[in-house]
Amino acid sequence: MPAASPSVSDGFIAWIEGLPSSGKTTLSRTVAERLRAAGRKVEVLDGDEVRQMFSPELGFSRKDRELHARRVSYVARMLARNGVAVLVAMITPYETSRQAARAGVGPRFTEIWLKCSIDVCRQRDAKGLYERSRSGGVARLTGVDDPFEEPLAPDLVVDTGHLSVPEATKKILDHLVEKGWLAPMSPA
Ligand SMILES: Nc1ncnc2c1ncn2[C@@H]1O[C@H](COP(=O)(O)OP(=O)(O)OP(=O)(O)O)[C@@H](O)[C@H]1O
Ligand SMILES: [Mg+2]
Repeated sequence: MPAASPSVSDGFIAWIEGLPSSGKTTLSRTVAERLRAAGRKVEVLDGDEVRQMFSPELGFSRKDRELHARRVSYVARMLARNGVAVLVAMITPYETSRQAARAGVGPRFTEIWLKCSIDVCRQRDAKGLYERSRSGGVARLTGVDDPFEEPLAPDLVVDTGHLSVPEATKKILDHLVEKGWLAPMSPA
């Protein structure tokens, strides 16, 4: 029997990446809220929380960041293939990690880059990381003394330096609707 074609309610992975304070946690939560309101099963795999659980022994070298991203993408795939809408909110500084996350998922993967200048991120400093980095309390902070490779092939770029949170949320939801993974919704 031929496999059923994917439906609008099947699982998917939206991999949301960007600099510290670019808005990953904020937007993964607002998008998750809207998806839940639409009756979807949703999981958010958010950077810090997931790191403590999955990779407490890892640091922030390239090798460790890539290994951590591989662990997260493995779990994201398991969830997505069981019908869950998975939002991954992770800095993901390396292109190799993004490509590895995409590989093996097929078309139900989208990469969303929250593009925001380092100056704006530093001003926001939602978790005080930039300040702590300045005073020597954090080493290898992405964007400051660790690299963030510009994404080569994101499916969506959201300019969180200029958009408001509701505007950026809408942009992501519209993208999911365009993908055919979410039924169009009436405005909030
Ligand atoms: N368009 C926008 N999208 C997302 N966040 C925005 C936007 N405009 C302003 N902000 C603000 O920017 C901050 C982003 O912080 P947030 O914790 O979401 O970043 P993050 O990318 O998860 O950082 P980290 O990598 O350190 O976890 C919040 O205070 C949020 O209110
Ligand atoms: Mg965050």
